[in-house]
Amino acid sequence: MYTSSNVSVNEKGHLVFAGMDTVELAKEYGTPLYVMDEERIRERCRIYKKAMDEHFGNGSIPLFASKALSLKRIYEIMTEEGMGIDIVSSGEMHTAKKAGFDLSKAYFHGNNKTDFDIKYGIENNIGYFVCDNADELRAISLIAGEHRITQKILLRITPGIDPHTLEAINTGKVDSKFGAAIETGQADSLTALALSLDNIELCGFHCHIGSQIFEYEPFVDAATIMLSFIADMKAKYSFEAKELNLGGGMGVKYTDSDPEICYSSNLNGIATLIKKKCNDLGINMPKILMEPGRSIVADAGITLYTVGGVKEIPGFRNYVSIDGGMPDNPRYALYQSTYEAVIANKANLTPDYKCTLAGRCCESGDLIGEGMMLTKPVRGDIAAVFVTGAYNYSMASNYNRIPRPAMVMINKNGSYLALRRESFEDLCKNDI
Ligand code: LLP
Repeated sequence: MYTSSNVSVNEKGHLVFAGMDTVELAKEYGTPLYVMDEERIRERCRIYKKAMDEHFGNGSIPLFASKALSLKRIYEIMTEEGMGIDIVSSGEMHTAKKAGFDLSKAYFHGNNKTDFDIKYGIENNIGYFVCDNADELRAISLIAGEHRITQKILLRITPGIDPHTLEAINTGKVDSKFGAAIETGQADSLTALALSLDNIELCGFHCHIGSQIFEYEPFVDAATIMLSFIADMKAKYSFEAKELNLGGGMGVKYTDSDPEICYSSNLNGIATLIKKKCNDLGINMPKILMEPGRSIVADAGITLYTVGGVKEIPGFRNYVSIDGGMPDNPRYALYQSTYEAVIANKANLTPDYKCTLAGRCCESGDLIGEGMMLTKPVRGDIAAVFVTGAYNYSMASNYNRIPRPAMVMINKNGSYLALRRESFEDLCKNDI
């Protein structure tokens, strides 16, 4: 079974997550159910905050990449933990605003901010836009002018790094829909344009090289390229960037075969080399920002399902069907992401039944995993899938008109509802 300090088994043989009996949680709140460990989320925020403060100093802070998990409660937690946030749409901004998050600590990303997004950001005093391209830069300048403000921005730069991650989530290479590449000279031109436009204050640069990166070297490589670029821009335009945002992407242990990362020593490793590089280049150490998403919330989450049919196809495989699937977790369907699961009410028994965990949608690719080892389940058992806290709820859909699950959070006082389960009425509320 997946091992983590927030996972154990009690005397009834039930899976315990963050100190709570998961079979009881399934009974109380129903399934499918997202369960989040609030203490784990807070602990991760503190690790990042402390390490960035100690190793980078200079006002450096982590920004939670809220595309990984966006709901009001998470922005309240981020406020309490003193985190900044990365948002990527007006919808995420609106949710953060409704939760009372101070938007001056928000960085608005994305390769296509609409005029509405830009206005909405400016009218809500967004801290920064991370600007992707020349058209967007001109639009921000124009709209900021109409509002008689000077808008802070960073420029999204592609440093040309391949951190050897999944192609689909690799965003820092030259051929990317994101940002402007240094190699092609476009990053230089975008900088020149930003410096020439009114109502814009260029504060620095941003890059994001990909996701599920376990070593710190790719970040150091990216930082090295970005710092050299900063030095070039200083030499060419007498512009010295005050901020360097290195994006997100630190890996997470999804299964026991993945390594466990020590985030704080990774940050220490990055900081040591950044300081040295700044010295070598004769530039001041910029304020460093990082945007962890999955490493804050992924292993703080599990999903509970009720098992339906168990089907054995002789000579082929065994299917275990559950009452959720790609609508609440599309990551296997999209990326063949690997997960571990357990039968929560039989967590003390040997997992000796090889099976495919299948979702309930009318689509054969709707699976949570293949070749998974479970204790042989029967209809009515509770299946728990580990490490579903990131990019599950935030990527959930209503495919096949399936209501999105509820989400409960667990803290020292017990469990509480953070998201209500969608109702059939919710499904029809926009139908005319
Ligand atoms: N910053 C930027 C600009 C990003 O594009 C991303 C992720 C992050 C930060 C956070 O990366 P993280 O620390 O979470 O790896 N849906 C995919 C992931 C897409 C990530 C896109 N950008 C998945 O389920 O794996």
